[in-house]
Amino acid sequence: MEKLRRLGTLRFVNACSSLGIGLAGFGTVGSGVWNTLERNGELITGRTGGCVQLHIAKILVRDPAKARANIGEVPAAMFTTDWRALVADPAVHIVVELIGGTTDAFEIVAAALRAKKPVVTGNKALLAERGVELFALSKETNTPIHFEAAVAGGIPIIRTVQDSFIGNRILSFSGIINGTSNYILGRMTDAGLTFEAALAEAQALGYAEADPALDVNGWDAAHKAILLATLAYGFPIDPASIHVSGIEQVRPTDIHFAKSLGYVVKLLAVIREHPDRSVEIRVQPSFIAKSNILASVHGVFNAVAVHGDAAGESLFYGRGAGQDPTASSVVADLVEAGRALGNASGHRGFLPYRENGHVLPVRETSTAYYVRFDVTDRPGVIAEIAKILAEHRIGISGTHSPVNPANPDAEFVDMVFLLHTCPFGKLQDALAEVEKLDCINSEPVVFRIESLG
Ligand code: NAP
Ligand code: HSE
Repeated sequence: MEKLRRLGTLRFVNACSSLGIGLAGFGTVGSGVWNTLERNGELITGRTGGCVQLHIAKILVRDPAKARANIGEVPAAMFTTDWRALVADPAVHIVVELIGGTTDAFEIVAAALRAKKPVVTGNKALLAERGVELFALSKETNTPIHFEAAVAGGIPIIRTVQDSFIGNRILSFSGIINGTSNYILGRMTDAGLTFEAALAEAQALGYAEADPALDVNGWDAAHKAILLATLAYGFPIDPASIHVSGIEQVRPTDIHFAKSLGYVVKLLAVIREHPDRSVEIRVQPSFIAKSNILASVHGVFNAVAVHGDAAGESLFYGRGAGQDPTASSVVADLVEAGRALGNASGHRGFLPYRENGHVLPVRETSTAYYVRFDVTDRPGVIAEIAKILAEHRIGISGTHSPVNPANPDAEFVDMVFLLHTCPFGKLQDALAEVEKLDCINSEPVVFRIESLG
């Protein structure tokens, strides 16, 4: 029966018929997909030997009357606000989810899989938070979910890990995988913009999430890190088990101080397998040496360094967000989905291959650190902090209190400590004591100092 049903679907979308796309979401990325198919549709058909012809059959939006810039004429009849109608439409063979979020998006993807319609999505939050359910459904229905656009925008990193690194044990990934944060840090560094002004620019350029808090609090990068780690290590990762902090606390002081020491500040994702097979996964603002290749990743660009036991180090670099680069990845997935439909090759996508795995608790991860304290400046402050650090056997490699030339006798100042490598848990314990000192005015700000291979 199942076989007959599948054959029925295949007859309907035989190898060289045009495949209808149900495009859920017509914002930055959705309209980029429309434009890319308008521009390069024939090229794609030619390159696939005539066998993948794609056309958009239906478009889901919240507001069909909304004015949409940089888009040719779209027939009004194509728009719907009813996702069920889009998924059920017999003219829709592949469903593209680009609305974002984890509620309606979940329903759309689940309904498409149940209808045996392959799904293409760029929604990392959805897959990182609810991927276990969706990929189980994908397996059960033998219907793939493609998600190249979910990690690092236009960089084809998902397919690379899935296919090109299949023969490697992945020792680590380290990377800059949030374009908005990288753009903001760059504008603060190079143009002296405030955090707010730089974020507004990133939003206007279409880089930021609908909820930009996810970009700046580190969770967008964390969702991507979860997807990469799950692909590489094969077990479902609970978002609560990983350590995430964002760039909201980065101040010009930190950027300038990093610069003076030969570092740059980047929001870095680190995923590393340890000899006991536990996996370290964390996203944090980090000092990285100016000489490291990741230091020269500017603007909206992303870079992912992959270390495979056979391939060694490889670096993947490109635009990590924005309309056209992201649409490029969505369209590549559409072609893959179309090929699979035409050739009846069944399931393709991510499947966890082991049930259990172990995320290394963040307290057991070790690096050197930069810690900024907001202190009431009085004699003995440095000694008081240093005493507690020494009691916890944490070495200090430097300390500094930048003087504000406009107010050299300020009562409240930033005091910066550079600390030797130690487990993060040890640092947390020491800082909990330091915070109790009456000279400390707020929670200390901690950045990692990464020594990348
Ligand atoms: P966006 O510009 O905010 O567009 C969202 C679109 O979805 C809009 O067309 C909106 O309709 C529609 N929509 C939202 N909620 C809906 C609902 N409940 N029902 C019906 N339609 C709904 O978002 P985007 O930047 O294109 O991002 C889309 C997805 O791609 C997200 O998952 C994001 O994480 C991911 N992504 C984005 C980028 C990027 O650079 N922007 C890069 C990689 C991945 P209206 O037009 O009527 O408002
Ligand atoms: N908001 C995301 C970023 C979009 O800035 O990287 C790409 O996933």
